[in-house]
Amino acid sequence: MKLTEQEQLILSGREGPARQRAMEILVMYGEAMQADKLLDIESVGLTISCPYPVDRHADMVMEDYNAVFSYASLNSLEVYDIPRMSARCCSQATNPSPDYLRYLGITDENLYRGIEITNDFMKRTGINNTLSCVQYLVGDLITLGQHCSVQESSAVIFVNSVLGGRTNCYGEMIGGCAALLGKIPNAGLHRTENRRGTHLVKVEEIPKELYEWDLLGYYMGKKLGAAVPVFQIEIPCVTADMHKSFGASLCTTGSIDMYHMIGLTPEAFTYEQAFGSNKPIEVYTYGAEEKKKALQLLDYAAEEEVDFVLMGCPHYSIYQMQKIAALLEGKKTKARLIIMTTWIIKEMADRNGYSEIIEKAGGFIMTDTCPPMIHIWPEGIKVMATDSGKMAHYTPSTRSDVSIHMGSMEHCVQAAITGKW
Ligand code: F3S
Repeated sequence: MKLTEQEQLILSGREGPARQRAMEILVMYGEAMQADKLLDIESVGLTISCPYPVDRHADMVMEDYNAVFSYASLNSLEVYDIPRMSARCCSQATNPSPDYLRYLGITDENLYRGIEITNDFMKRTGINNTLSCVQYLVGDLITLGQHCSVQESSAVIFVNSVLGGRTNCYGEMIGGCAALLGKIPNAGLHRTENRRGTHLVKVEEIPKELYEWDLLGYYMGKKLGAAVPVFQIEIPCVTADMHKSFGASLCTTGSIDMYHMIGLTPEAFTYEQAFGSNKPIEVYTYGAEEKKKALQLLDYAAEEEVDFVLMGCPHYSIYQMQKIAALLEGKKTKARLIIMTTWIIKEMADRNGYSEIIEKAGGFIMTDTCPPMIHIWPEGIKVMATDSGKMAHYTPSTRSDVSIHMGSMEHCVQAAITGKW
């Protein structure tokens, strides 16, 4: 991989040991990925791991976030003094909020302190505190052709497919190095030739409700495995919420960081543009039978009673907050109801009166992260309902004692009110 003079200086340690270490890692990674050079990037969606619960990190001094970043992003037990980030950064959904801890009645002071330490680190190093998996909705708007580095898988697929930005799905280490240096190796989906379609999916059963986009994504992700699928679907437009739900489920079951929809996504105005010189390796059809099978996989709890309803994976948009508030207006919930969004959209929901309606009905609005990400769940839950394919899929991997119902927002709200599916 060819380095510029400035990059070689960083590698020689001219800009300090933290940047030197980051450059060593990026060069190693770039060479393994057969990159020819490093690209300049401006935008990084960065995972910032809260140092608590402590099982997430090696034995280290939790009061010093430099140690956490050195371990997670620079792969080192040696503690580097971390300077300001070179790239513009927004943080992804990885920090519990004090409100969530209080809501669950958690009093462990270490957890509250961990949140403060993490927030202070973000301030000191110039990482914007968005704490969301939908940072593209709340400030980090990527544009066509923009190289960036994103870590959360549902954001990666949205940025590549819907916005036309260019990123691979990066882990904490490469993402952290990219943020420190404002650079990323020119490999994978940063290169035009790797963004062409590989498989064709003809969608005959067109999703109507939002959760049906999850079903389409979930089913096809399982079928496709590793791919850049091209979807042929006769529909005049697909909204951001539809893409958000669809992409999140598609990359949950498939090794997929990008898709095209002919005539609907920016690098696929035509079939020819979507595939380039590729011929589809395989052609699939998604119809009513496939939709039914997807729902059977996700909505499988034998019990009718529901004690927990978890909505907002990926984090809800303001329109979803508006809709769920309308469904809950004047109602009281029997089952525990948690709705997840970013703190920024929660502020909008507060101003518009949605939060008050939701809270009056007995719901709680969770910001900054989600239960599986931080491994902090409400106690005593057995049967959970959700409108998200991704959440329905992931919950059993961290909570094997919880069984799942999956369905529309309306169905989930009804379950929260009646305690039954
Ligand atoms: Fe976001 Fe958590 Fe789902 S980070 S995409 S709400 S699993």
